[in-house]
Parts: sequence; C-alpha cells; structure tokens
Amino acid sequence: MLNIAVFVSGGGTNLQALLDAQQAGQICGGQIVAVMASKPGVYALERAAKHGIAAEVVRKAEYADTAQYAQAMLQFLHRHQIGLIVLAGFLSIVPEEVIRAYPNKIINIHPSLIPSFCGPGFYGLRVHQAVLDAGVKVTGATVHFVNEVVDGGAILFQKAVSVEEDDTPETLQRRVMEQAEWKLLPLAVSKFCEGKIQVEGRRTRILP
Ligand code: GRF
Repeated sequence: MLNIAVFVSGGGTNLQALLDAQQAGQICGGQIVAVMASKPGVYALERAAKHGIAAEVVRKAEYADTAQYAQAMLQFLHRHQIGLIVLAGFLSIVPEEVIRAYPNKIINIHPSLIPSFCGPGFYGLRVHQAVLDAGVKVTGATVHFVNEVVDGGAILFQKAVSVEEDDTPETLQRRVMEQAEWKLLPLAVSKFCEGKIQVEGRRTRILP
C-alpha cells in the first residue's frame, strides 16, 4: 500500500472526492494517510478530521526562507512515509527541493485544458474568468505531474467540459469540478498507486 499525502489550501472538494473514492474502494493500492494545509482555518482540514486523517498546517510565512520551508515539508512527508503527493487546490509553490525528492511522484489537478489557461497567476476563479474572456467553447481539467515549471509536468489525464453561453466564472468552475475534476483526480491517484502509469519524456502511457 502506497501512503498518499494530499496538500490543500481551500474548501477541499477535490480532497473530498478522493476520500469518497477511497471509502468506495476505488483507490487501489494506496491510502490517504495525511493532509497538509498551507494555512489554518480552511474547510479541507475539517474534511480530513471527519475522516480521522492526520492533518497539519505548514505555513510558508513561518519559515525564514524557502530552504527551511522545504525542510518542514520533507519532514512531514518522511514522517508519514509518503509515496505520492497530491496537490488538490494547493496554492503555495512547492519548493524545488521537494520536487527533486519526489520526481514524478507529485500530481496536481488544474481546472483547464493545459497548455491553455495555465501557469503563474492562473488559479481559482481567475482560470475560469480567462476562459470566458477568451470566448472559447470548450474547457476542462488536467491532472499532471509536478515539475519545476508551474503547470508544466507531463500530463496524465484530461477531460473536456463545455462552456455555456450564460456561464459565470462560478457556474463554469462548478461544472468543471463536477464533470471533470472530481472524477479525474481519484482515477489518476488509483492508476498511480496501481503502478499503471509509465512516463516517457513528456508523454505518459496509462496501462490497462
Ligand atoms: C480546483 O479547481 C482545483 O482544480 C484547483 O483549485 C481548486 C480547488 O478546489 N487547483 P477545492 O479546494 O478542491 O474545492
């Protein structure tokens, strides 16, 4: 069984999707053992508590520099013997030291079809506002590995979602979550834990 840590910064609906999938026996070969939040008071922490999952706040502002912040993260990860890190709405940049320590073992969910509407500054409702401003008819979600480039690692799964004419950023965000994010993330985590993801450069192969 692979130990999974989920990193969060907000409401944690993606964390909830993972916890629900775990309860339904849909995460094969892995178990969520720890949740790390970038700030206190976020609802995701309550979701973790309700499921009896160990949760901790690691706040960048509390450390003198990025190196010490990275050390705190690495200690958390080692303590829980983590084999997979899932960024589920995590709004802090993961230090390079942590990325180097977990190559192709950190996955992120992004609420657009990468390489569109991604990179620095594209988070939360801003992504969906940009989609509406551009007038595109299709958006979606992407699960990808995390490397040192923001939203730049190899892509694991993508799912398209229609943009409707009367959408607001809020309605679009909700549809992308319901139709794509909450399905793709548990699927990606399960495939990873089953050892069914092969990486060949920028391309990934999902084994049956
Ligand atoms: C999601 O849209 C996710 O794709 C993005 O941040 C949002 C987090 O939502 N990275 P939640 O905290 O999981 O509800």
